[in-house]
Order: sequence, then C-alpha cells, then structure tokens
Amino acid sequence: MTQVSAEQLVELAKRRGFFLQSAGAYGGVSGFYTFGPQGAALKRNIEDTWRERFAIQEGHMEVDAPTVLPEPVFEASGHLDGFDDMLVECPECGESHRADHIVEDDPATGIEEAESLAPERVEEVIAEYELTCPTCGTGLAGQAIEQFNLMFETNIGPGSSSPGYLRPETAQGIFIEFPQLAEYARNQLPFGVTQIGRAYRNEISPRKSLLRVREFSQAELELFVDPEEDEPDLSSVADVRARFYPAEAQDRADGDVIETTIGEAVAEGIVADPWIAYYLGVAAEWYQRIGLDMDRFRFRQHRPGELAHYSEDCWDAEGDVSDPGDEPDWIELGGFAYRSDYDLSKHDAHSEEDFTVFKQYDEPVTVEKPTVDPDMSYLGPEFGGSAGDVADALAELAESDPDAFEGEEVTVEVDDESYTVPVEKTGFAIEEITESGEHVTPHVVEPSLGIDRALYTALDHSYREDEIDGEERTYLALPPEVAPTTVGVFPLMDKDGLGERARELAATLRDAGLSVAYDDSGAIGRRYRRQDEIGTPYCVTVDYDTLEDGTVTIRDRDSTAQRRVAVDDLAATIDALVAGEDDFEDR
Ligand code: ATP
Ligand code: GLY
Repeated sequence: MTQVSAEQLVELAKRRGFFLQSAGAYGGVSGFYTFGPQGAALKRNIEDTWRERFAIQEGHMEVDAPTVLPEPVFEASGHLDGFDDMLVECPECGESHRADHIVEDDPATGIEEAESLAPERVEEVIAEYELTCPTCGTGLAGQAIEQFNLMFETNIGPGSSSPGYLRPETAQGIFIEFPQLAEYARNQLPFGVTQIGRAYRNEISPRKSLLRVREFSQAELELFVDPEEDEPDLSSVADVRARFYPAEAQDRADGDVIETTIGEAVAEGIVADPWIAYYLGVAAEWYQRIGLDMDRFRFRQHRPGELAHYSEDCWDAEGDVSDPGDEPDWIELGGFAYRSDYDLSKHDAHSEEDFTVFKQYDEPVTVEKPTVDPDMSYLGPEFGGSAGDVADALAELAESDPDAFEGEEVTVEVDDESYTVPVEKTGFAIEEITESGEHVTPHVVEPSLGIDRALYTALDHSYREDEIDGEERTYLALPPEVAPTTVGVFPLMDKDGLGERARELAATLRDAGLSVAYDDSGAIGRRYRRQDEIGTPYCVTVDYDTLEDGTVTIRDRDSTAQRRVAVDDLAATIDALVAGEDDFEDR
C-alpha cells in the first residue's frame, strides 16, 4: 500500500537532494532532471547492482558507445520511419499532447492502452467522448493526429550534410558494433553485451517528474542467440514468483493477473519464449533487491498492436505508483523483447559489414548445390545490357527453384520483363559441395530497463511514515545495498573530544569503503530524522562511553533498535548487516 503521493515524493526528492527539475534558474526545462547528491548516489548504486546481476553474474561483456550516431544507423534500425508518437495540438492554447494518453487518462473511454490503436480510431474516440485539452480544457474533437518522431536531430560537424541523432535507445550502439563484438566472443553463440547509458526522446508531453523525461538512463542487455539451438537453463529462476498479465487476459472482461512461478509460467505457456521467461525471473529478483514492493509489481505482455517495430513478443515490467487511496497507476519500468534477427538483418543489408556468425558443423557435410554457369556469348547478343542481370536472376532461381531447369527452357523476370533462356545455355548443374558450417544471423533477446523509473519507484515503494515516541517520522526503507549513504556518524555533542573521536571514526569507516555522512548539528533526534528521510540504514553515535570503553551505539533505521558495538568491530558489523548476514531482529 502506498503511503506517499507523487507531489509529496517530488517535494521530498528536491528538499533532500534526490532529484530536481533542471535549469530552475532559467525557468526550468521540461523533461530534464538533475540528480542531487542523494539521487546520484542512489542511481549509481542501482546501476551497480544491475551491472553485477545482468553483466558480471551472467558473464556478459559491457560496452560504452556514443550517444550521437549518424543518420544511416537510424534509417537501418527503423527509428527514422517508425519511432513516432501520436500528437494532438490544442486549437485554443496551442499546447501539444500525446493523443493516446488523453484517451487513456479519461476513465470513461475504458481504454487502458491506446498506443496500439490506429490514429483514425484515436481521433474517433476523442470526438466520441468529447475529450479536452489537459492544459486549457478546450475540446479536441476534429483535431488531426500527427505522427511525431521522438528523436532529437543534430548535425555532425559544421553544415548540414551529415545529420545525426541522439540515440533513442542504447541498444543501437551495440548492434552496429556486432561484427567486432562477435569476434570478441570468438563467434560463439549465445553471448550477451550490456550497456548502461543515456538515451534521449523528445517526448511530446513529459510528465510525472522522472517517469517521462527527455533524457534518461537505460540499462540494456542484448543477448545474441542461435534460434535453432540455444535454450536457457531456467533452474536458477524456476521458483521465482511474480504476477503475470498476458495479452489475452487484457482482452477479456474477466481477465486477471496470474500469480505463479517462472517455471509454471513457462510450463503453462503463459510466457512462450524461455529466454524472456529467464530474464523476467532475473529481473523480478533484481527489482525486489533494489526496493520494489512485489505486491505493486507485475509483468504485462504487449498486445499485438502495441509491439515496437522490431519486436515479435514483449513483456513489460510494471510498477504501481498511484497516490494513496487511488486505483493502481501502472507504469512501464522495463521491456523484455524478442527482437528476432530484425536489427542484425537490417544493419547487414544497409551497411558494408557482415552481421552473421559462422556456425561450424561438428562434422563437414556434403550437400548438393544447384549452380549455373551461363553462356555469356549467347546471353550478351541476345539480351544486350540486361545480360548480367539475367545471369544473376538465373543463379537466384537455381538456388530457390532448381526444378525450373528441368525443361528445355527457363524464364526469369528482371525489372518486370520476362527473359526466356534455353536451359543448355544456362550451364545448370547440381554440384556436390562439402561445407564446414553455415552463416547464421543471431536472434536478439533484450531486457531493457529504465533506471530513472526504477529509482523513482524504489523511492515510492520504500516511503514509510510511523510514530516514534509520540513524534511522526518519515523514512525511506531502501535496501542497505542501494541506500545513498550507508552509515551516519554523530558525536553526541561536539565537545569533550567527542567530535574528534567521531570524525576519526567516520574517516576509518570511509577507509573501509563505506559511504558515510558525518553530522554534528542539532539534537540527536533531528539528526536521526534527517538520515531516516534519505534512507540511511544505520546511524552510529559516539558518546562518553566511547571514550571510556571504545564502544558506540549503532541504530537501525527501520526498527530504531540500538545496540552497542566495539569500534574495532564496527566496519565488519555494518558490512554483515548490509550483506544480510546479521540482523537487528536476530538479537
Ligand atoms: P512508454 O510506453 O512508457 O513511452 P516505451 O515502451 O517507449 O515506454 P521502451 O522503448 O521499451 O519504453 O524503453 C525501455 C525503457 O526505457 C522503459 O521501460 C523505461 O523504463 C525507459 N524509458 C523509456 N522512455 C522513457 C522516458 N521518456 N522517461 C524515462 N524512462 C523512459
Ligand atoms: N531498447 C528498447 C527500447 O528502448 O525501445
């Protein structure tokens, strides 16, 4: 159950240094956010856990590609033509809005996902339900819907002869280097390449603070697999429980979310692709690890019309970020797409490079291969300038339909013209060829996780209010592993040598690799509250006993329980608490 509204969370985030809208001194810029000291640390910690789980633990490579790429990349990837959102402009105030969001936001339409609808249908729904401009309330019926490309365009170098785009996904930076990356992987499938970095989308209407911004961070894994042979080992995730909302259930009035394990979801055919199932399992554990409440988390399958241009099947991880008392408000946290050979085939066709891997057979195989060796002294005089194309067409036909060469003559089409050639002039033959392997275009399985949305949702889900000694307090129950600061160090008072002792202790803990906040200002209770509100899991107080017996108190954020620990054991105790090997409840 949520305890915080979006408005309260954004206020806390700004006040305590998690995030704030950028360029406030210049009136603010919509869709751009700066992470403050707490937010930057939290983001880094979240990214580190992602790297540890999705890259290091899986044995995958990590790369760091540029954020600007030249136009041909996005011509090939399909983003230039297909990366559009539906825009509707208000005839009164001129504000632009996402037409599909206007449809989804009015409960009267009963439509939860309008992105999959045709623009004409969205225009009809807007007229039918008399939907209005969210800014000024003017009716939008009759306004044409425009397809708006989300990529930010720039010029590479002076002049406009070399257009480039800020990458709308980090993935393309991986795909375009596939030939070299495959070499690094010694052409052995499956192999995975990861990247954490910024992506840019000129969103029509950024909103909900970090949840829809124009510059954000993605953590993406592109797994290259042999679709014929490679299968994941599901054993490590088979028992992971999660909630699944398949496409067919979304289309049924009584369709509901199914809670089950990954193993069952595969066995029951809920998740058809085992690779996607594997990553749903890995991701469910990861989201829980960074602080999401699994009761407010689910996987939702895309309906056919919702699929991105490259995708054959896709599941989204979704988190509920509703205000207290409201219906759940599901936002997409990450996408898990089966991209097939779409990307590599496109880059293979558009570029000069080979985007396949050579798959060696266990044993060489002998195959019968139809070939042609056309008699050009016949084709040249007969077909003039088209002779070369006719020869190519004969070679293609021999491969695709060798039976066509069984008669006296064979006919091929070149530029809508038919050319008939006597079979004896084609040099058609079936040759026996020994092959040691074949070229395969790998398929791609892609978990693509948004870091900003994960961070926001972790804050939302970890927000708590309670009462300590009759006083209300707010705290963030962030897992110690990702909390921006691990330990607060306070002297009871900054006098009688307590301050020096506490500063020394803070330095020792920093040397031990811990993230430490030193604070000696104000009453001790207020110092606890400050750390509670940024999610610091442990606070250590240096008092007069410390000077006597070398012990300090360590206090647990969630339970507020305290215990005394010898200074010499402190770093090890905190490490054990962070690692979950020790617990205040164990005492
Ligand atoms: P949406 O439908 O919400 O616009 P999307 O389907 O376009 O999202 P993807 O293209 O699948 O998102 O991008 C992968 C991930 O990148 C998303 O799951 C999300 O976490 C993140 N992401 C995408 N767009 C934004 C954005 N404008 N602001 C913040 N994060 C984003
Ligand atoms: N790479 C998935 C996406 O950003 O759309």
